[in-house]
Amino acid sequence: MHPTFATRTAAAVPIWFVTASTLEAQLEKLPPVVARQVNFAGFKAKPGQHMLSFDEQGAPLAVLFGLDQPGRKADAFLPGRLSTLLPPGTYAFANAPHDTGLAALAWLLGSYRFTRYKPDASAQALLCAPDGIDVAALEREAAASCLARDLVNTPANDMTPAALAQAARDMAAAHGARINIIVGDDLLAQNLPLIHAVGRAAHQPPRLVDMSWGRADAPRVTLVGKGVCFDTGGLNIKPDAGMLLMKKDMGGAAAALAAASLIMAQGCDVRLRLLLPIVENAISGPAFRPGDIYPSRKGLSVEIGNTDAEGRLILADALALADEEAPELLLDFATLTGAARVALGPDLPPFYTHDEALAADIAEIGSAIQDPVWRLPLWHAYDRLLDGKISDLNNVTSGGFAGSITAALFLNRFVEKCQAYAHFDIYGWTPVARPGRPEGGECQAARLTAALVVQRFGQNGAKSLS
Ligand code: BES
Ligand code: MN
Ligand code: ZN
Repeated sequence: MHPTFATRTAAAVPIWFVTASTLEAQLEKLPPVVARQVNFAGFKAKPGQHMLSFDEQGAPLAVLFGLDQPGRKADAFLPGRLSTLLPPGTYAFANAPHDTGLAALAWLLGSYRFTRYKPDASAQALLCAPDGIDVAALEREAAASCLARDLVNTPANDMTPAALAQAARDMAAAHGARINIIVGDDLLAQNLPLIHAVGRAAHQPPRLVDMSWGRADAPRVTLVGKGVCFDTGGLNIKPDAGMLLMKKDMGGAAAALAAASLIMAQGCDVRLRLLLPIVENAISGPAFRPGDIYPSRKGLSVEIGNTDAEGRLILADALALADEEAPELLLDFATLTGAARVALGPDLPPFYTHDEALAADIAEIGSAIQDPVWRLPLWHAYDRLLDGKISDLNNVTSGGFAGSITAALFLNRFVEKCQAYAHFDIYGWTPVARPGRPEGGECQAARLTAALVVQRFGQNGAKSLS
């Protein structure tokens, strides 16, 4: 489902944003009955607190909503709470929150529901598009995020490798992109041995989606997303609690698809390429085993220390392929390690890059548009932990320390020619609902990627928007 704004109507209930310090002055400008109700209810305009006020006939008169005091800690998404707090109806911002565009986006994102298996036709609180924002751009961002959420929320019995590849086909068709999908044993013929090894035990064969769009001689931007439709852990099987959420292990592919859709819809002047290695890490006779050694596309031999470190294997081949044409910008998205969540929690994905300017741009854009990420180091002193005894590389380290960093270092071995490369170790899931972020699948780092591409390469042939 794709939340959109309501068309403007005079009957929309006004929403007044207030803080503890502006409440009194605001009440003086509203009908006296509002102040009486505020006093009766004990409304203090605490951040996130809301109150509905009614006229003498019981018709809604105004909504008051408490904001953070302006400053570094203010959450621009906080008004997104209103989309779930308010009764069904049509509302409009009567004054400006801290950031009108982000507040409106949070409203749309907050009204997302996953209805595929349990239709929910109940009415919702709708927001009239506020003045001064780019309505179409915000609706596009919401649609892209909600597409990624739908893909992640759909369980693995329906979000199979074929279904995920079909989502890419649909997107290519919608934007006039070219798409080629390499399936099953053709992966061996095309020298993508690690994708094949990880996915070969599953009922549906592994595959690589290769989509491209845009002017052939425009700057090359390549996005790579981990598409593990279900991660049992393989023969190094996960315990029940660790496996429960593993339908979300294609969250990187979902984020990459969302970012690609935004880049294409924005008309960025780039040659976009999207590579999605798609597998199910399943257990059956042909499963790859601990101790197996496989060649990789890049030529490095990789010993399998743990079949549960499958994401870096399929990404290694996809990144090596991406790197062959030395793109100007290469980004990958992957629900790669539990260690990333231990380090930074579910809402703040770590990212890794050697490029200082790229790191600064990513961090700045992410925090400006509420798609937050945090840089962690590619600490090369840990490279030796991945050295193989009888192969070039092992896919895991023995200690398990710095698990997100060593996974990023593994990926870095497969990238050398591209001009700027960053890896995002995302979680792809919101465990407890927050403003603009309902519980369930989440789209992380995609909006920031689209904004980064606009900033670096411009839009519609224009130099830059920022
Ligand atoms: N998909 C998981 C990572 C993951 C687990 C992400 C839980 C989010 C939540 C990945 O394939 C995996 O299993 N990683 C292992 C790596 C280990 C075997 C070196 C992990 O993080 O435990
Ligand atoms: Mn795994
Ligand atoms: Zn995985």
